[in-house]
Amino acid sequence: MTKVIKGGTIVTADRQFTADVLIEGEKIAQIGENLTGDETIDAEGAYVIPGGIDPHTHLEMPFMGTTAAETFTSGTFAAAAGGTTMLVDFCLPGEDGSLLSAIDDWDRKSKDQICTDISYHMAITGWNESIFNEMEQVVNARGINTFKHFMAYKGALMVEDDEMFASFKRCAELGALPLVHAENGDIVQELQQKYLAEGITGPEGHAYSRPPEVEGEAANRAIMIADAAGTPLYIVHVSCEQAHEAIRRARQKGMRVYGEPLIQHLTLDETEYFNKDWQYAARRVMSPPFRSKDHQNSLWNGLAAGSLQVVATDHAAFTDKQKQMGLDNFCMIPNGTGGLEERMAMLWTTGVETGRLTPEEFVAVTSTNIAKILNIYPMKGALVPGADADVVVWDPTISKTVAVSTQKSIIDYNVFEGMQVTTQPRYTLSRGDVVWAYGQNSQPQPGRGKFVRRPAFASASKALSKWKALNTPRKIDRNPMNIPAGV
Ligand code: URP
Ligand code: ZN
Ligand code: ZN
Ligand code: ZN
Repeated sequence: MTKVIKGGTIVTADRQFTADVLIEGEKIAQIGENLTGDETIDAEGAYVIPGGIDPHTHLEMPFMGTTAAETFTSGTFAAAAGGTTMLVDFCLPGEDGSLLSAIDDWDRKSKDQICTDISYHMAITGWNESIFNEMEQVVNARGINTFKHFMAYKGALMVEDDEMFASFKRCAELGALPLVHAENGDIVQELQQKYLAEGITGPEGHAYSRPPEVEGEAANRAIMIADAAGTPLYIVHVSCEQAHEAIRRARQKGMRVYGEPLIQHLTLDETEYFNKDWQYAARRVMSPPFRSKDHQNSLWNGLAAGSLQVVATDHAAFTDKQKQMGLDNFCMIPNGTGGLEERMAMLWTTGVETGRLTPEEFVAVTSTNIAKILNIYPMKGALVPGADADVVVWDPTISKTVAVSTQKSIIDYNVFEGMQVTTQPRYTLSRGDVVWAYGQNSQPQPGRGKFVRRPAFASASKALSKWKALNTPRKIDRNPMNIPAGV
């Protein structure tokens, strides 16, 4: 059974050209002119791009006394409807602290539920010998090559610097990539208490208590700790110039540091928290909070310049009712917003349509760069023979208004509600299956998605440890008799 995507303009991270895509089973078989197959998928007048990869989601995650309401089924369906064919979810250790049982737990939740492919990042939320030992199996037996560290959420998920340093060194040994949520959790906690004591209990207090300085400090600290540990580093949800500046500077000095802005931070700003409607503002509470326009511009510039490499959503979606846990205290509002379905169209509309990004850069930051950084390229993130047939027919003639009434997400609101987007997937293909066709009431089969194993890295960590070897300390042998008298 073969399919041909016909008549579209192929856009890769490097170039645009007119060609057809021949798909055999789950894989791309050929790219060329005048191809034929058993079935034809019309791409006339549209772009043909690699399926989007969202490197940062929290589906059904227990967090802040509740559980994120978006399920693996609704989340992956929403993703497909928006042109995203793979997402990477965060796996959190439970009560017993075991990494391997956390993965089993996530497998139980996602298996038979996912409509498109997924992978996991593993969170390190403490440090001991069994975590040290389990990390090897996480990488080599379970195919997870990334470990996330929370520098915020003190008293819950936060790790201390010594724990982070130990884990980073372990990552370097295993050929894994550490990730950090960069916010200084100690300062956040103190500021939260300060604003509550001043009687600021609403969502604006969330923004006040997490200023850009706490993110910049943590980003700088994590970068230095990664450098000392001899490992590359990936900073999630970079929201401000201070963190971006730290990444730029590190990269200029030859460190391998990656930065991930979110579509929310690129398009929504801090004024959202000052809305008179409590529920409106609470829906937008996430960490780090939305920033001013200056910070947004910094992120856009970083994507264009390459100092920031990917765009994610951090999709952590809580219902209105769940958000109301923090009615009297902003610290109790579950942190997180959605965007899985809107990421691609919002980024095209606000990035490509405005001339801030080229279509090729759009493909790079939504798919190709992510696949490379996460070590699954060119199986994912590429339109080449042999790659998985995760392909989107991206139609610039379909515009739509984002509305909760038409979204696939099961959350009762949408932070992009009312915004006009200028592109939509005409078709989304996941490993050769059409999982979304615009206007055709698609319902992809839960359980058809697969877990994608991501092997340990060879190249980047080796390059860094070789560089580190140049700085290997030498012990200086001194004859104590040579100490000058009188010293
Ligand atoms: O506010 C957010 N981002 N919630 C999800 C958990 C995290 O910090 O990534
Ligand atoms: Zn501390
Ligand atoms: Zn985070
Ligand atoms: Zn997150």
